Amino acid sequence: MNIKRACVNVLTNILGNNQWYEGKVDLAYLGGRVLVKKLPDLTGAEPPKEAEEVKGWLDEEFDVDLTDKEINATKQCLEFSLKKSALPLNTYTFELMNLFGVDDPDPTTEEVIKRCKKDPAYFIDHFCKIKHPNAGIIPFQLFSYQRNCLKDFKENRFNIFSKTRQSGISTLCGAYALWLAMFFKTKTVLIVSKRDKDAMEFMGRNIKFVYNHLPKWMQAIWKPVTNNEHEIGFSNGSKITSLPSGPDTLRSNSSSLNIIDEAAFCPHMNDMWAGGYPTLQHGGSVVVVSTSNGIGDWYWKTWTDAQDSNNEFNPIKIDWWEMDWVIEYDDDISHKPIRIAPADNTRKCTTKDEIAKYGEYWSPWLETQYRQLTEKGNDAKFRQEVLRDFLGSGNSVLSRDTLLMMRSQAKEAGQSYKTVNHVD
Ligand SMILES: Nc1ncnc2c1ncn2[C@@H]1O[C@H](COP(=O)(O)OP(=O)(O)OP(=O)(O)O)[C@@H](O)[C@H]1O
Ligand SMILES: [Mg+2]
Repeated sequence: MNIKRACVNVLTNILGNNQWYEGKVDLAYLGGRVLVKKLPDLTGAEPPKEAEEVKGWLDEEFDVDLTDKEINATKQCLEFSLKKSALPLNTYTFELMNLFGVDDPDPTTEEVIKRCKKDPAYFIDHFCKIKHPNAGIIPFQLFSYQRNCLKDFKENRFNIFSKTRQSGISTLCGAYALWLAMFFKTKTVLIVSKRDKDAMEFMGRNIKFVYNHLPKWMQAIWKPVTNNEHEIGFSNGSKITSLPSGPDTLRSNSSSLNIIDEAAFCPHMNDMWAGGYPTLQHGGSVVVVSTSNGIGDWYWKTWTDAQDSNNEFNPIKIDWWEMDWVIEYDDDISHKPIRIAPADNTRKCTTKDEIAKYGEYWSPWLETQYRQLTEKGNDAKFRQEVLRDFLGSGNSVLSRDTLLMMRSQAKEAGQSYKTVNHVD
């Protein structure tokens, strides 16, 4: 679905110039619905009466209703609000407000393809859909940090994430892989996951689902020439392969883009990297994605080296408070409206105890996470999954307190932290 484009059509086809409207965009079902209400007429023109269907290349299921009821005499600007939206309000409001700036309401297919090729964010924002576990099928409107990641992918050949759980990075990598394979010839994308089951799941959820929900005209142009649980390939010679990690996975599948998902949990990372690294010298790029899982392993070492600029990886941190999105939906069972907003009412932690418990910031959402993930006073899971804390998580033999003490002693002695934190 393409709200932005559809609204452009509403404005240009129906509303005319110099009139102000308020509207509601209802994303409750696939295809969506736009309600536009006319505000007091500033130009003397008659208000539009009839509903008109928005046609075109965007979404066959899109329709538009017009009504001049409930005129709000005080508002003099176009202001859309979201009803039942599963998406961040701010993003949409901003995008819809920008409609006035769109000067080319109906680009040709060729032009659209050109725009997609130039900018993965354009492709994702305008054409991709994803499946949210609670909100259902929704348009993939990039969160601001996801948008920034796309810039990182463009500017750096080697990227490594340290991320809070469920921040949408696998989803982003899947859509990025699809973009690369669709719009560029003879590109190979390799996705590496923990096990075969995860590899197939990645392919199904983050690539094929998105592909299967692209507009029909796009699917007609990019008909897959291979399509199975591990691979999708197009007639431009590009393909995406999703495989489990193994000592030879990188080396034997030398690719233009290599995405290693949940690297801290992948077996054989050391061997896989050692074997695959030489093949990357021919220009391939790498995105390593993970949450923390203790110290001493390949992922931890590569991340800490990247932070110290000791390797070629660009480090990308995604902290929980960056998740400034809002998910709203009606709960199927209780029928009550649910709102999830991690960064709502975030404040800085002030006392020593608070900082030790929660880190830099606190929010009601964080408190819920703390309670859900802390068991009998053991907050290791919370620290690992939400705070991105490496210490004392995963398979570390020593406790967090011991490691912290060793780190501070090492610092006092002028040693590098790394001289004491490798625990085999
Ligand atoms: N821009 C977006 N808008 C709405 N929902 C999104 C967006 N990006 C991702 N999601 C949803 O957020 C959820 C988490 O996404 P994803 O699995 O990609 O996160 P992750 O960071 O890889 O999580 P994990 O830590 O479990 O590996 C998914 O349900 C996905 O559909
Ligand atoms: Mg993931």
